[in-house]
Parts: sequence; C-alpha cells; structure tokens
Amino acid sequence: MTRRSIGVGLLGVGWMGQLHTRSYRRLAEHFPELEVDIRLVAAADPSPARRALATELGYASVTEDWREVVADPEVDVISVAAPNYLHRDMGVAAARSGKPFWGEKPLGRDAAETEEIARAVAEAGVVTTVGFNYRYVPLVEHVRALVASGALGVPTGYRGWFLNDYASRPDGVLSWRFRRALGGSGALGDLMSHVADLAQFLLGPVAEVVATTDLLIPERPLPTSEDAGHFTVGGGPSAPVENEDAARALVRFASGLGGYLEVGRAVVGPHCSLGFELYGTEGSVRWDFERMNELDRYVAGGAGGDVGFQRVLARPGHGEYHRFQPGPAISMSYDDLKVVEASRFVASVLGGEPAPGGVPDALAAARVIAAIETSASSRAWVSVGDRSAP
Ligand SMILES: NC(=O)c1ccc[n+]([C@@H]2O[C@H](COP(=O)([O-])OP(=O)(O)OC[C@H]3O[C@@H](n4cnc5c(N)ncnc54)[C@H](O)[C@@H]3O)[C@@H](O)[C@H]2O)c1
Repeated sequence: MTRRSIGVGLLGVGWMGQLHTRSYRRLAEHFPELEVDIRLVAAADPSPARRALATELGYASVTEDWREVVADPEVDVISVAAPNYLHRDMGVAAARSGKPFWGEKPLGRDAAETEEIARAVAEAGVVTTVGFNYRYVPLVEHVRALVASGALGVPTGYRGWFLNDYASRPDGVLSWRFRRALGGSGALGDLMSHVADLAQFLLGPVAEVVATTDLLIPERPLPTSEDAGHFTVGGGPSAPVENEDAARALVRFASGLGGYLEVGRAVVGPHCSLGFELYGTEGSVRWDFERMNELDRYVAGGAGGDVGFQRVLARPGHGEYHRFQPGPAISMSYDDLKVVEASRFVASVLGGEPAPGGVPDALAAARVIAAIETSASSRAWVSVGDRSAP
C-alpha cells in the first residue's frame, strides 16, 4: 500500500476537538499499517482563545466560520466537535460536500436532527464515525465476543448506567448543555446516548421502553466566559435549566430480553461511572468505566465448586489493547479509546466502506432516547419504532 495523505478540518476546538486532534496525531504510532499522513489543515471556533490553541495544536489555518473549513479544498475529512445544536448543520454540510466526518455524540439535539444527518449521509454515500468511544474499551469488546460466542449462555438480564457528577454542583454554570435550544435533551442526549449505544452494541436493538425523567437542580448561574464548559463553576445571575438531570428506563430488547437503563449527571459519589451488568444462563459479567481495565466475570459451575465473580484484567488479546500495552494489567486510558475510534474512522475513509459505530448507530441510539422522552411524558410503554435507514 502506498502512503496516503488526509487533510483534517476541525469544527469546535473544545475538549473533544482537542482530543480528536491528538488522536489523529497518534495514529502513526498505534496504527502504522494505515500508512496515512494526517495534515491538520483548518480549524473553526468563535472563541479567539480556542483559535489560538488550534494554531498551537498545528492547524495551518483558523477561522471563526466553520463553513469555510467544510469548503476548503485541502480538507478531506471533517471532525464535528462543536455543541449539539450545530451538529445537524455541520453534519449535513459535510455530507453534501462529499466529505466523510467523525461526529461527536449525540449527533444532533434530537432524533429528528439525527435523522436529517442520516439522510444526507445516505444520499451522499460518505462514511462516518460517531464518538461512541466506550465501544472500543478492550474489555467491552471482550464482553461482546463472549456474548456472540455464547460463552455466557442465553442472556437473562441487563442493567446499563452512566452516573456522572459534572452537574452535581448547583453553582456549576448554565453552559450550553443545560439549554434545550443549544443542547437538546440533557442527561439523555449527553449520557444515555452512550448507554443506549452500548446496550444495543452488546445485545441488539431495544424495541420498547417505559421511563421517567427528573430535573434535580432547576436553576444555575449564567456563564461569564465564552469558554465555559462541562466543569466550569461560578458565574452570573441564575436562569432556569431547561432539560433533565436524570432518566430511568425499563427496556425490552427485540430479542425479548428485559433490561434497565439509567443516567444521571448530578449524582454525588460516582464521577464517571458508565457501566453494565449482563446476566446469562452460563455466566455473567459486570464492568464500570471507573475501573476500565477490570471486568468481573462469573462462570457457572467453574473453579471446582468455588463460587463468586473473578476479576479479569485487560490483556493483549482483548480488542486493541495490544496496540497500547505489551502485557496484561498495564492500564489504558480514555484518550487511548479515542485513538482506536480515530483508526476506525480513517480506515473506513481509506477503504471507502462504512464501519460499525457510525451515523446509523447514532440514529438507533437517538430513537431509543426519543422513545424514553415520549414515555416520560405519556407514562406508558413506547415502541422505539422503525430502525431501518432513513
Ligand atoms: N464522546 C464523548 O465521550 C464526549 C465527551 C464530551 C463531549 N462530547 C461531545 O462533544 C461535543 C463537544 O463537547 P465538548 O465537551 O468538547 O464541548 P466544549 O464546550 O469543550 O467545546 C465546544 C467548542 O465548540 C466551539 N463552538 C461553539 N460554537 C461554534 C461554532 N459556531 N463553530 C465552531 N465551533 C464552535 C466552542 O467555542 C468550544 O470551543 C458535544 O456534542 C458533546 O456531547 C463527547
């Protein structure tokens, strides 16, 4: 294979925009067989400080106007890392200009916007990857393989959650995440998008849900800086929070399996507890991102009569672990997951073939979230509906 060059355009130079950039850069080190030279061509952000940062990161040009980046002929692929209210316009514009994109979840404020993006992507035939980084945890990939091989037997129950404390302080500012026009839904779009995706990644489609949502901190101080993000506290006068802090859903998978999905962004105790428990007739597993490199596994009838869960440590052989560490139990990091995600995106761009974890999966997750929102107001079971392409 001859080396190929890919010009990157970045829309939004915040936490995720910076991480996308570092991840592209690390591809040569961890995925050398891609034989790709990444060029950081152009970045857009309305914040002067963030544009200065983009220059430091190595982008050849910076602008306030993201449309200039999409139109730049030197830009081959786009990273969409701006707030949720911009995803639809950015994703649709990238697709219409024939440029593959790597877009951050939830990829739109609601399922209708995700659907618009999905339609533009299908019409243009561009490949996409969505920021479902937890799919690429080596032990999560191991669990998926255990489920697929039947090693856990027939699944009998599933619990998935994402409990986070980033919004637990009442003085945490009313950033774009808490405003419906800018963020869309709250904990649902931000956290349930990951939980719904992981559940469907491991066990197939969710068919119906019954759910509740809660708003726990109804007012927050307005931000005083344009760079206010996830973890900024303090600020100006208070204003109302416009979306939910927590959601809980009983679910029925299309397979008939029952499950429970829960998210909270204002939970005190867990910091970034994204996890699941999956029970089967031959064994069970439980995993939590706060201990990303450990899995509890129970094998029915194992260990000569001794009972209990065993602690399994990540090792070469689990997913892409070997790309990062040479031996077992040398912990990988969150940023490493994004390098794997970047590799899936770039491989799919080079091969021209869509890969799992793209816009169709984002649409599937968005539809579960839409059903949860409908159920929370109707107080009844709601069908997730048609999962076929738009
Ligand atoms: N995959 C994950 O685990 C994960 C984690 C965090 C955030 N996210 C997602 O990433 C996206 C960005 O979140 P973040 O935490 O990086 O936010 P952030 O607030 O840190 O960064 C957003 C950036 O977008 C910029 N921006 C605002 N308007 C813009 C415009 N018109 N054009 C270009 N840039 C613009 C802001 O100035 C800011 O620099 C969100 O959709 C969020 O849900 C995903």
